[in-house]
Amino acid sequence: MKLVFATNNKHKLEEIRDILGSRVEVLSLNDINCHDEIPETADTLEGNALIKARYIYEKYGVDCFADDTGLEVDVLNGAPGVYSARYAGESNDSKANMNKLLQNLTGKSNRIAQFRTVIALIIKGEEKIFDGIVKGFIAEEKKGDSGFGYDPIFIPDGFSESFAQMTNEQKNSISHRFRATEKLNDYLKTL
Ligand code: IMP
Repeated sequence: MKLVFATNNKHKLEEIRDILGSRVEVLSLNDINCHDEIPETADTLEGNALIKARYIYEKYGVDCFADDTGLEVDVLNGAPGVYSARYAGESNDSKANMNKLLQNLTGKSNRIAQFRTVIALIIKGEEKIFDGIVKGFIAEEKKGDSGFGYDPIFIPDGFSESFAQMTNEQKNSISHRFRATEKLNDYLKTL
């Protein structure tokens, strides 16, 4: 089976190829010569994942999937959510995003949060949505320096370390993206 993953992110491609195994050939946007800036204009993760998958399906006519992820903070009514990358401005500056979030949580005792990944799959015109969640809370300060994005301030339930203090393997075995990808994999096995 051949599927286009609407990304050029090497880490995501590697992770997903590992999980899906040799049964599924995962192609990147570069592999199909798509160099378009696909707009992400929806106000939900589902909406953005669908926009990207539909764009590829309609323009290239290939089976495909796309993902979108957000960090949802309880006391901020789910923010930054779909705007996680751009929380502190258009430049997707992780440090500025974390500082803004820590600032907005100053003095708040409820620090419950979750990462949520949504994957939209289109096969032969049929759309399916899968999601993966990891629950946890926002630390008082940044800890650790591996990973990316909000990893230094997110502590998953059951752990005392932040995602940025874990090895890639440890994080990837419990992550939102891993859980969504596992659901995608389970579905693909039924086809
Ligand atoms: P994307 O949809 O995968 O591009 O994720 C959107 C934004 O969410 C990223 O720019 C990061 O700020 C944040 N994010 C997504 N996944 C993670 C993660 O595993 N750790 C930390 N931050 C993440």
